[in-house]
Amino acid sequence: MLGIGSSHNRQLMKKTLVLLVSSDRPDLDKIRKAAGVIKEGGLVAFPTETVYGLGADALNAKAVAALFEAKKRPMDNPPIIHVGSVEGVHRLVKEFPPEASRLMKEFWPGPLTIIFRRSDVVPPITVAGLETIAVRMPNHSVALALIRESGCPIAAPSANLAGKPSPTRAEHVLADLDGRIDAILDAGPTAVGVESTVLDLTVNPPQVLRPGGTPYEALKRVLRRVELNPVAAAEKPLPIGEARSPGVKHKHYAPNAEVVVVEGGVEAVVGKVKELVSLHRMRGKRVGVLATDETAKRYKADVVKSVGSRDDAATVARSLFGLLREFDAEGVDVIIAEGVPIEGLGLAVMNRLRKASGYNIVKVG
Ligand code: TXA
Ligand code: MG
Repeated sequence: MLGIGSSHNRQLMKKTLVLLVSSDRPDLDKIRKAAGVIKEGGLVAFPTETVYGLGADALNAKAVAALFEAKKRPMDNPPIIHVGSVEGVHRLVKEFPPEASRLMKEFWPGPLTIIFRRSDVVPPITVAGLETIAVRMPNHSVALALIRESGCPIAAPSANLAGKPSPTRAEHVLADLDGRIDAILDAGPTAVGVESTVLDLTVNPPQVLRPGGTPYEALKRVLRRVELNPVAAAEKPLPIGEARSPGVKHKHYAPNAEVVVVEGGVEAVVGKVKELVSLHRMRGKRVGVLATDETAKRYKADVVKSVGSRDDAATVARSLFGLLREFDAEGVDVIIAEGVPIEGLGLAVMNRLRKASGYNIVKVG
């Protein structure tokens, strides 16, 4: 197998145990087996409603160090801590602002991560040396059962190698991490498909650092004031100083292929995509088009895939990361992707697509 003895990877390959579970009624024996691994300081990938996470005991510094190593994740980018109840938050945080209760009542369990000031029980490595901590309660029976049976908060970044698209299926996790982690709970594809919204409650007004599965519009209905950090809706890389969430300054969501995003009105987008397809094919490239249901039939390229209807951001969010991986599997050199409307989950989708492209964005009429 790969990796043994490489200078960047001192970790020996392990046998990754695959535990198939149903999300309706997770088999308790398998959950307990996985929880045993977490308790011993091991690494278990598990499904949440957003994407698969790679879990470790958040209060065990050695386990968290192994988590960073398995993902090849930069040590300055802290993971999200997953809890099984609102009570589980209190020991992790110093302050519990009144908005937190309202948000949890409305959105938990669910795809909303809240940033608090952290308490001293949290090892510094778990929060990358920050004084704050990101916490969420996932809306998935397998994740909740794993947290309950492990008896600890679970640190879990998305279960991909750093820089790759987040995994929405167990197969994606294994493609990146087979042999690098102890076990995976496989409960099939995830429902939301993009990661949680990260909301910072340590600033006034609260700020969305990463758009995600809980729409900004929904937060605005519950909070009197809330802002979008400039990075969240960025159309170009911003100076590092503006990146209040450590993760946003690293390369992200990128397939191996080069990605170009074409944004604008549908007709103008179709015209521009066709033009870019011809241009790249003339240069001898293998070209993929990430289209929508409304437009897919209008393209001729090496590979054309639809991410869903332009009017259905939930479907687009669910398909996006898996399709980026499929294009890689088909060996395309370039992916020309249509932009979708920036409403609801569309904001999270466009944030991921723009980053995946390295902000290689073409705007048309
Ligand atoms: O849906 C999700 O959020 C998934 C599932 C597994 O729960 N998790 C996930 O984790 O996306 P990860 O580690 O890939 O992304 C965590 C994000 C990063 O952008 C990180 O920088 C940010 O949360 N973050 C973590 N702790 C933070 C903190 N104290 N302050 C600001 N941002 C923080
Ligand atoms: Mg991630």
